[in-house]
Amino acid sequence: MQMSLLDSVKLRKSTVTFSERGIETEDLNLLFEAARWAPSSNNQQPWRFIVGKKDEPEHYNRLLNCLNEGNKIWAGHAPVLVLTITEKTFDYKERENIYAWHDVGLATGNLLAQATSMGIFAHVMGGFDKVKAREFFQLPPRYEPVSVIALGYKGNIRDFAPELQERENKPRERKNINQLVFNGIFGKSLF
Ligand SMILES: Cc1cc2nc3c(=O)[nH]c(=O)nc-3n(C[C@H](O)[C@H](O)[C@H](O)COP(=O)(O)O)c2cc1C
Repeated sequence: MQMSLLDSVKLRKSTVTFSERGIETEDLNLLFEAARWAPSSNNQQPWRFIVGKKDEPEHYNRLLNCLNEGNKIWAGHAPVLVLTITEKTFDYKERENIYAWHDVGLATGNLLAQATSMGIFAHVMGGFDKVKAREFFQLPPRYEPVSVIALGYKGNIRDFAPELQERENKPRERKNINQLVFNGIFGKSLF
């Protein structure tokens, strides 16, 4: 099925019911290809990614061990975990890049939309130990860990514990567009 870009954005969902099916290397490559073409302040491209695949348990488990307990429960089923990292210093004059996190978010957004268009689910997590991640992955001082993304295909919901089934079935919610988009002045809805 060919998806429109809007479909890839709207149908994305932070699943908690991953199947164990792995992601082919060529497909993983497409996800990072989408990420690397994101725009960035000064074209610094501050994003870096550390990938842990379940079939290489040493790398995978290091990432899994950084997660909060509540995330470990479901994320441990995903075949791929990715640590996103940002470079917080510009090459130019070694100044602080205050857009470093913003730009990793843009790259992550591209990755998520590409994943959805390919039937791959992605669940971003902020719930992980940043100190541990920095240490485990030996990040140089100008880099900061940002998020961990669980990637994989969706499993059969009936194979999961009732709490996860309930979470998975919860409707996704968003603020209304008239609360978000203003016409020329703050608070006056455009739509
Ligand atoms: C920066 C960030 C951090 C998040 N941290 C977690 C997390 O630690 N655990 C979790 O289960 N979900 C986490 N989420 C997922 C959000 O809860 C989810 O995106 C939100 O509830 C909307 O649901 P949806 O993604 O299915 O539309 C995070 C999402 C983002 C973007």
